[in-house]
Amino acid sequence: MSEGRSSRLPGFFRLSPAERLAAVARFAGLDPAALAALASPDGLPQSVASNMSENVVGRFGFPLSFATNFRVNGVDYVVPMAIEEPSVVAASSFAARLLRGGEGIVAESTAPVMTGQIQFPEAPAEGVLEAALERGTEELRRTLDANHPRLVAAGGGFRGAEVRRLPGPDGRVMAVVHIYVDVRDAMGANAVNSMAEAAAPLLERWSGARVGLRILSNLPLRRRVKVTGRVKLGATRGTSQMREDEARRIVEASLFAEADTFRAVTANKGIMNGIDATLLATGQDFRAVEAGAHAFAARGGRYTALSQYRIEDGHLVGRMELPLSLGTVGGVTKVHPAVRANFRILGVEDAQRFGEVVAAVGLAQNLAATRALASEGIQRGHMSLHARNVAMRIGATSEEVPQVVAEMLAQSRTDEGIAREVLERLRG
Ligand code: MEV
Repeated sequence: MSEGRSSRLPGFFRLSPAERLAAVARFAGLDPAALAALASPDGLPQSVASNMSENVVGRFGFPLSFATNFRVNGVDYVVPMAIEEPSVVAASSFAARLLRGGEGIVAESTAPVMTGQIQFPEAPAEGVLEAALERGTEELRRTLDANHPRLVAAGGGFRGAEVRRLPGPDGRVMAVVHIYVDVRDAMGANAVNSMAEAAAPLLERWSGARVGLRILSNLPLRRRVKVTGRVKLGATRGTSQMREDEARRIVEASLFAEADTFRAVTANKGIMNGIDATLLATGQDFRAVEAGAHAFAARGGRYTALSQYRIEDGHLVGRMELPLSLGTVGGVTKVHPAVRANFRILGVEDAQRFGEVVAAVGLAQNLAATRALASEGIQRGHMSLHARNVAMRIGATSEEVPQVVAEMLAQSRTDEGIAREVLERLRG
């Protein structure tokens, strides 16, 4: 747990990778040796990788970084992020600093209730499934929970069922029974899929109707996180403060994304930059989260922005809500050494709290991108990171890179030709 520790790590970006890892270990109260998996290209041993998938030939690397400055519901976090896109980690850390005031980002979440679907391709007469469920819910609960004693002991289990009738594209009506399952700290796909499969024969027997698919839904509408971030407005731009004209432009950008699908999808992609990077570093099913987030963005019948910004009481206030199905147990969380190390640094064991941190990263990333777009644009920041990549590619050492980059930016050029010219001059 990181209560009482500060995720403000000034100058973190100037340290070497080994020094950064040591700083993160200090923050988390861990021996850096416990985090060796993070510094090693062998963070995932071949023997483990070979058992995770099929036809495995090796492992595939990604940069692993840490975003600083995060405070969520009064607790500080440094957040692991695995992402190849430049600017995302810097932008998240920057916005997290803006949002650190008071308790930091305020997050609320529902209980971790997932949805399973049991399809009846030809719906029985109206009322048949409803009546069967009314009579049989207790038997359903007993049967489904009996197969998951550990989940029930942890406080989870079956939470109810309901019937939906759907007009099919072929003009016929099908029916779907939704089952709701509190999956506690698991992502929940296994528990929900096996409960859906176990529920099917009972529902078939009670209704006389034939079952089709039995599978979880990746739109877990009952498993949601809401985050709110506040930045104080002032005459100047400070570490936890923003100028009012800047905030007004962010609100205009937000209204654009709320009104227009073309813009909304790009703004939401920025949110997912932060979320997916954290999910990758923590071994989560980011495809499930992506699918759910975009479906949620379209739940009113029109795809819109997941976040909204307004000026309220002298603050820029950003709000975002989305469904998140995450697990701190199961999947690869215990078998992938780097994932395990990242969870130790995050200091969360509770999936609900983990979801709150992940959503906070999405909001911070979105605020940073929107602020940049609504002021100087994002190309300037991208240009310096691109220049850095080019300088490294042509063989500049870590001492030479900053000087080469500064000269490239002064000349507004980021091609290899200028990088070589500058490096040759530097080396005399
Ligand atoms: C780029 O990966 C993400 C942004 O396009 C997000 C946005 O437009 O808000 C910068």
